[in-house]
Amino acid sequence: SLQFGYNTGVINAPEQVCVCVCNVSQERYGEPFEDGTVTTVWSICVAIFSVGGMIGSFSVGVIVNKFGRRRSMLLSNILAVVGASLMGLSGLSRSFEMIIIGRLVIGVFCGLVTGLTPMYVGEISPTSVRGAFGTLHQLGVVIGILVAQIFGLELLLGSEHLWPLLLALTAVPAVLQTIMLPFCPESPRYLLIVLNQEEEARKALVHLRGTEDVEDDIQEMKEEGMKMSLEKKVTIPELFLSPLYRQPIIIAIVLQLSQQLSGINAVSSRHIKGAEIQPIYATIGAGIVNTVFTVVSLFLVERAGRRTLHLIGLAGMAACALVLTVSLVQKIYPPMSYLAIVAVFGFVASFEMGPGPIPWFIVAELFSQGPRPAAMAVSGFSNWTANFLVGVSFLKLEEVLGPYVFIIFTVLLIGFFIFTFLRVPETKGRTFDDIAQGFAAKTGPPAHAPVSEAGVDGLPELFGNKSLP
Ligand code: GLC
Repeated sequence: SLQFGYNTGVINAPEQVCVCVCNVSQERYGEPFEDGTVTTVWSICVAIFSVGGMIGSFSVGVIVNKFGRRRSMLLSNILAVVGASLMGLSGLSRSFEMIIIGRLVIGVFCGLVTGLTPMYVGEISPTSVRGAFGTLHQLGVVIGILVAQIFGLELLLGSEHLWPLLLALTAVPAVLQTIMLPFCPESPRYLLIVLNQEEEARKALVHLRGTEDVEDDIQEMKEEGMKMSLEKKVTIPELFLSPLYRQPIIIAIVLQLSQQLSGINAVSSRHIKGAEIQPIYATIGAGIVNTVFTVVSLFLVERAGRRTLHLIGLAGMAACALVLTVSLVQKIYPPMSYLAIVAVFGFVASFEMGPGPIPWFIVAELFSQGPRPAAMAVSGFSNWTANFLVGVSFLKLEEVLGPYVFIIFTVLLIGFFIFTFLRVPETKGRTFDDIAQGFAAKTGPPAHAPVSEAGVDGLPELFGNKSLP
């Protein structure tokens, strides 16, 4: 998770890095790049990461079904080391092409991470603290972003000579994880429910829980496994076709969209320009707010619940986006730039209360063992696609709409709030089986009954399939 954050944040390093990247290559080509070319190269470096993320996240289902949870995570570190090496050696090789390929490879790795980590963590956690453990994924992400922002300072690694090291540093956590992961047990749910290895599952549970008394967990998994053996293997098309899975997969996708289409990756230090605060310090300030509020969410998620925190976060973000719009429109009055700081920090804080951490781990909660890998793949892919779309379109939209661009996010956030209020169930303190049964009870027909035109609970869909990617 830390590496996903690091590679997201590293791209905010001083603009100088971008110029350096192109400088080394132009020596090879013999003539200087035009300004436009430099910008284009950097934009590709930024965007290709999300393309990699789309590929990686979509592959999650196939990979975990083949290699299991722990081995998939171990293997994916090869990609991290390859990506880091390509980017790190790009300086010596005077090649911006290597950075682009390196960013693609590291993007594929991060796409895998965003599916594998929440799935593994969700499966090994005791039910009563599953949400808090799930939030640790996002905590890893925000710490990674903050570390990248700090290392990216010009006086540290964001300098003319050290930038290849800044990009390559992502290999360090990959190597550490490769060394430490073998000491972690495989997911007991995977061992028992998928591989039917009860003894191995029991050993893994004893290791994880620190007690010999793991009968309750074993019993709960067996019950889920028994019901699951009645289901056929679940493929991606079946997630949409079976009435049993259609409701949770729509919820999973919309929650992921609510994370990216909230505008979290669009808001930047540019929006608080004029407040006499240097952009890089504004960025690091936002990184600190990010981290602090993820910790707040970590402590609240098992008390307040996922649904409530997600609603609070979306409402807070919508309000802050509105305040930001007002402050950007009214820029002529100097105090407005300070209001913009409050709005941006409030926006980030609200995000980390719910829309940041919750969508990543709730998908694993909404599905039982059988459909979970396919569901993680579909929802992760939706997240990365939305991330890519905001990345490539935001600057153009801002050119056209100016300060009013945040109104788009306000409207979307209100839509996501209504959807969450009407459709998202509370999963706090419930077993996977209980959550799945909750959807099944509403659905009525058996798992492979023909798909009806109406929503799974008989109501017309608020956000019908047509509006989904
Ligand atoms: C989430 C998002 C990521 C974003 C980060 C910010 O993990 O998936 O795109 O940059 O939060 O904290």
